[in-house]
Amino acid sequence: MKRCYQVVGEWMKAAGLSVSIDNAGNLRGVRSGVVPGKRVFLMGSHLDTVRDAGAFDGILGVILAIAVVENLPNVPLPFDIEVIGFSEEEGVRFNLPFIGSRALVGTLDEHAVAVISPALREFGLDPAKISDVKLKTPPIGFLEFHIEQGPILEHVNESVGLVDAIAGQTRATLKFTGSANHAGTTPMHLRQDALAAGAQWITIVEHIACTTPNLVATNGKIELQPNLGNVIPGEVTVSLDVRHSDDEVRENACALLRHSAAHIAAERMLTLSWTETLNQRSVPMNDSLTRKLETAAPQGIRRMVSGAGHDAMILAPYIPSAMLFLRSPGGISHHPAESVLPQDVDLALSIGQRFIESLAIEYKS
Ligand code: HGY
Ligand code: MN
Ligand code: MN
Repeated sequence: MKRCYQVVGEWMKAAGLSVSIDNAGNLRGVRSGVVPGKRVFLMGSHLDTVRDAGAFDGILGVILAIAVVENLPNVPLPFDIEVIGFSEEEGVRFNLPFIGSRALVGTLDEHAVAVISPALREFGLDPAKISDVKLKTPPIGFLEFHIEQGPILEHVNESVGLVDAIAGQTRATLKFTGSANHAGTTPMHLRQDALAAGAQWITIVEHIACTTPNLVATNGKIELQPNLGNVIPGEVTVSLDVRHSDDEVRENACALLRHSAAHIAAERMLTLSWTETLNQRSVPMNDSLTRKLETAAPQGIRRMVSGAGHDAMILAPYIPSAMLFLRSPGGISHHPAESVLPQDVDLALSIGQRFIESLAIEYKS
């Protein structure tokens, strides 16, 4: 991340932004308007990503925002523009997503601050001042460019899409605890096999997701102890990620999955722990900003729901927010094959520039 902040920070400076890193680890670049600090429009996305990722998830939104500023006429705007490279959106390192954006709107809880404090100090930051990161004056709005990370835009052969809402998501960690034992001497009916229980539950997760319209559920991470070929697994920890644009559908599915896990554990004489690490409601984007984005485009743009979470979902309840998606060739993301098409980036850049220019006219008058 230090190297990333150094390189992106240089690009921000080259675009005429004054650069700083806040105490939540967000990289901040500001271009002052006519009256510095009076009003600000935010643009940006996250700088972190997942393991074995592609090269565009998050970072594309930061670079496009810098490019929009760089390509604006050298005339002071009636508002500041701030480009933010958010830290820790994915939640990979600390199992806590959206750290930078939650700090920006003041919703980062004490537990999260305690978990990330050592890393912030190691980065040369002061976690004791993390509350200073919270925005003092409400911005005009926030725009996030992001790859779609799915197959829709490619399927309809369109370059960009506008996000109506970001699906809500539940993230949880389940631990099935049985008892490790000898693989050769323990008869099947005397086992408390935690992995067999976890596997049985995972098939139910898939079944419930496949039979509930528009619900997606993923068990992406599994760890077992002692993880040896000739030992019955005594303990299995498995992740759960459930998403849907309707919060009631998502919550009902999670209740069903929790009940089925408890039933399997009881049947197999295991214990079960369920730790919810995120319960993020579905968030609508701001319609007037979204319509302004559409007006900045040469032709109409498809509206869509985002299955992926974004920093915009954390900001949107506090700051009018809009998202512009760029086509994901092959619908691939969170994978080295993730890509974008140059013509789509060009279109997004010109839409972003015209969007800012129209905002400037609105605020100048
Ligand atoms: O997983 C997600 O929703 C996104 O990549 N943060
Ligand atoms: Mn991602
Ligand atoms: Mn992302």
